[in-house]
Amino acid sequence: VKSIGVLTSGGDAPGMNAAVRAVARTCLNKGIDVYGVMLGFKGLHEGQFYKFNRHSTRNIINVGGTMLKSARFPEFADPKIREEAIEQMKKIGLEALVVIGGDGSYHGALELTKMGVNCIGIPGTIDNDIPDTDYTIGFDTALNTIVDALDKLRDTSGSHQRCTILEVMGRTCGDLAVNAGLAAGAEIIVTNHTGFDEQKIIEQLRLSKASDKKHAIVVITEHITDVHELAKHVEEATGFETRANVLGHMQRGGRPSARDRVLASRMGIKAVELLEEGKGGLCVVQHGEEIESEPILTLFEHKRQVPQGMYDDVLKLR
Ligand code: F6P
Repeated sequence: VKSIGVLTSGGDAPGMNAAVRAVARTCLNKGIDVYGVMLGFKGLHEGQFYKFNRHSTRNIINVGGTMLKSARFPEFADPKIREEAIEQMKKIGLEALVVIGGDGSYHGALELTKMGVNCIGIPGTIDNDIPDTDYTIGFDTALNTIVDALDKLRDTSGSHQRCTILEVMGRTCGDLAVNAGLAAGAEIIVTNHTGFDEQKIIEQLRLSKASDKKHAIVVITEHITDVHELAKHVEEATGFETRANVLGHMQRGGRPSARDRVLASRMGIKAVELLEEGKGGLCVVQHGEEIESEPILTLFEHKRQVPQGMYDDVLKLR
């Protein structure tokens, strides 16, 4: 392969820049031309390409967000739009692509591969909702951001003897909630895995109050319930003064953690090596300490499962 493009797609994640840098450096070290594609698949369709040199990715390994910008572009599901994007690639001799993003972005990568353009996916999302990889790029940084927020909330929750509810991101995946809850000593964690039972939560908080607990922390994954309504119901039913917080997009920003930078750097190298071997339609994954690959199609057949043991451990420390 003589020329590789790299793009970031979907929600941004800390560490995406480190992955872009690794792709760029690996290509340049191998004598492969490398292009940054701005704005994800939208920029691919518009031909927004920038040829990288050794200085293009200078000083970005430690920076959050994505230097290539990101966009959601549902129009890419249309084969005609994809053909037009391939035409744009041909104009500059771009042969293959590294797509850094969540599972939504992998559909585009797979379809392009079927149309003759080899694509490799790199999992970049704070949600950790991609099956068959231990971690996604951005998860560790977001987790630390949430734990930091929970530590601060614990201070004020303790001072005022309140129950504090924190809604975190993750889409339908409970990884951020359960890991943050464990790390910050939450009493209750609610995810799609645990299910949502308001009466059970209230009962547990009643028990906590009766056992002389002075404050409590509840962590809940987004899209499960209205946390402000939940706070009202908890306060009415338990007498525990309760406040709800939604952490929001600050979870997506910030300086990437060392772990995310290491993962991103290793995955970026692997993606280029796979393209060099003439492979496409694969996603880079982490298994233990190994960086491997798996067909994107296989990923689509699986669903990310947080180990039950992790939920059990939360209960053991209540
Ligand atoms: O996938 C990353 C994520 O931050 C999810 O956790 C969240 O549900 C979603 O993106 C938010 O998307 P947007 O930035 O479009 O509001």
